[in-house]
Amino acid sequence: MLWTLGALLACKGPPASVPDSPLPETEEEEPCVDTFLVDQVPEMPTDYETPLPIREDALPEWLSETGLYDNEGQIHPVVRPFVPRWPLWSDGVDKARWVYIPECTPIDTSDPDNWELPVGTRLWKEFSVDGQKVETRLMERLGPRPQDWAYASYLWDEAGTQARKLGPEGLAQALGTEHEIPSKAQCQACHGPAPKGGGRQSRALGFTAIQLDHSAAETDLGSLAERLSAPLESSPLNGEATTLQALGVLHANCGSCHNPTVDGLPQSDLDLSLVWGQSLEQAGVFASAVDQPTQLFSTPTVQHRIHSGDPHGSAVLRRMESRGDSAQMPPIGTHLVDEEGAAAVRAWIASL
Ligand code: HEC
Ligand code: HEC
Repeated sequence: MLWTLGALLACKGPPASVPDSPLPETEEEEPCVDTFLVDQVPEMPTDYETPLPIREDALPEWLSETGLYDNEGQIHPVVRPFVPRWPLWSDGVDKARWVYIPECTPIDTSDPDNWELPVGTRLWKEFSVDGQKVETRLMERLGPRPQDWAYASYLWDEAGTQARKLGPEGLAQALGTEHEIPSKAQCQACHGPAPKGGGRQSRALGFTAIQLDHSAAETDLGSLAERLSAPLESSPLNGEATTLQALGVLHANCGSCHNPTVDGLPQSDLDLSLVWGQSLEQAGVFASAVDQPTQLFSTPTVQHRIHSGDPHGSAVLRRMESRGDSAQMPPIGTHLVDEEGAAAVRAWIASL
């Protein structure tokens, strides 16, 4: 048996036995002990030498066992819904997202762009096509190292009654729709770590300071304040609406790979991500892309990653508008052009 079940996630150990004492009784603070599905969290190696077991094996076979639902089949009350400010384009399918954060450990926000979520954190994202649930993805932090995350997708049955864990290979045309369920390698190419892909140390890409900093988020920074190791003031990411929308679209759709962190894409220094606490003018796209030569896109009419005032001569937009060829960006997870996102980027480049 690979997994030691029953590992307890107690923040403090059990209360030490209190010796008889004549002193007046002070109120003992109850130790914080997580109880929600803790016996599903396996013990992971804590050193870097021990090879990892297959993490996905530790995830339950059925979605109904992952803690997303209560006994009545409703979303469990300890699970919080959230909405990123700029979603990833997924060919227009409907998505819903939830998070469970163990109660006893705060989210370490020392690096506001790469939150350290506690061991035991679970994040779900449900995909529906024309009202029919197709898949629900689960990411779970199983151990203390950044690579101790498991990624899986649960495929729903036709009737929408239950969903079962898929293998690491993913699935094309799920339930007869055009929707493609990515492979585990593809999950990691965006979420990380992936030697030839991208990602972020946080692994979560929509449950982040920048993405939760908006009032329409059901779980926003304000409602999370008590769970953060240090409170975060709202970010100064304001500015001209055209610029804000374009840079937000690029951050969500491209920034998971095109970012300058250790887990970002190693093949290119293109930076399409936003950084917490910086103004829009400081965004990496200005130094790394605007009027910079394109290195990895060869078309006679396109010389620049972004050419000021010239959307059609900008590799960033041209690759966003490509599908089904080697120019396509993002290279995975989509078969249709994000017309709205491309329009936002086109308007911004035209305004430069
Ligand atoms: C093309 C890049 C890409 C691929 C491939 C991808 N994801 Fe994501 N995923 C994202 C981005 C970006 C977000 C945040 C924006 C959003 O949810 O719209 C996200 C959000 C999520 C969330 C919600 C938590 C969070 O990070 O905010 C889960 C859970 C998730 N993905 C799981 C998976 C799993 C499991 C796979 C593989 C089966 C996968 N993803 C494949 C880019 C990707
Ligand atoms: C899953 C990771 C991933 C995502 C997400 C992604 N890219 Fe890329 N991108 C790559 C890889 C890999 C390369 C290098 C190989 C190539 O050029 O095809 C690249 C290269 C590029 C280049 C060429 C850079 C140069 O040096 O000239 C551009 C432009 C680009 N991407 C734009 C985008 C845009 C725009 C988005 C979002 C709409 C995006 N990418 C999203 C992986 C990604």
